[in-house]
Amino acid sequence: MTILDVVQHPNPVLREKAAEVTTFDKKIQTFIEDLYDTMAQYNGIGLAAPQVGVLQRIFVIGYEGVYHEFINPVLSNMSGQQSMNEGCLSIPGIQVPVDRYEKLTIKAQNRHGKTFTLDVDAMVATIIQHENDHLEGVLIIDKNLPIEG
Ligand code: CO
Repeated sequence: MTILDVVQHPNPVLREKAAEVTTFDKKIQTFIEDLYDTMAQYNGIGLAAPQVGVLQRIFVIGYEGVYHEFINPVLSNMSGQQSMNEGCLSIPGIQVPVDRYEKLTIKAQNRHGKTFTLDVDAMVATIIQHENDHLEGVLIIDKNLPIEG
């Protein structure tokens, strides 16, 4: 079990666009385990690779017992609208109300390179959009003004 260092805003790595994953080897499988461990250590509900300084298109989520990894994710079928106060492990101490799609479809690969598709909504849809933004160098403070808390 390895707890990775979480990069904090304004570290410029958080503003980079992450690269596609092309090799699904033991190294990436270990890295994904480390992402889950690091997310749990800091009580996060999602963690993207750029947040630990790795510019690859990978994130994990863990919410109400649902744990999932997404590699090279593509979002589609977005619909509806919802707003939640979001926090971010890379920007401690603030929350930002962010408008997101309420429903979407995510197609991605798992750690073995197997492609899968999931339809998600509500909180999980928000988490996925938040983490997917990290792969594009986009942060919640770009969306709205932060509020304390
Ligand atoms: Co975040």
